[in-house]
Amino acid sequence: MIKTIFGFLAAAVISLSAYALTAKDQAIVDRIGHTASVCVAGDPCAGTGGAAAVTVASAARAGDAVYNAGCAACHASGAAGAPKTGDAAAWSARVDQGVDTLVSHAYNGYNAMPAKGLCADCSEDEIRNAVDYMLSQL
Ligand code: HEC
Repeated sequence: MIKTIFGFLAAAVISLSAYALTAKDQAIVDRIGHTASVCVAGDPCAGTGGAAAVTVASAARAGDAVYNAGCAACHASGAAGAPKTGDAAAWSARVDQGVDTLVSHAYNGYNAMPAKGLCADCSEDEIRNAVDYMLSQL
């Protein structure tokens, strides 16, 4: 008997809260007038049919974060013959190559400079951010 009453009360509470949620959702829908949907690359809706797929990528890490986590190991001290961060003389001829070449060398490797500079999961944008950060220190 007690179980039955409890069960009934629980069911009543659950259905009441379900109703409350539904009413609240409906109020929001009424207020904004329509519901919006976003089609993300990989969803079935993103295939054909003209709807533009939005690629949601996680934000690239900032240059100083990438630099401190990887590049600093060599570039802060000049280890392994790395041009020291902030040493304008060591960088001037390198900077003359243009930023794109520097990014390419950092991303693909260049002599004793290892590809991606110890940041194995870095994207090219993240390496570019790190190079920009290093150049901002000159
Ligand atoms: C294991 C040590 C090491 C690490 C870690 C490292 N570098 Fe280097 N880096 C070097 C060395 C050595 C050179 C000089 C290569 C040469 O000129 O022969 C260099 C050169 C460079 C250059 C100049 C390339 C050029 O064309 O002159 C850039 C830009 C650069 N590194 C960026 C980075 C970035 C960005 C990171 C971190 C993501 C990083 N490095 C991490 C050792 C390192």
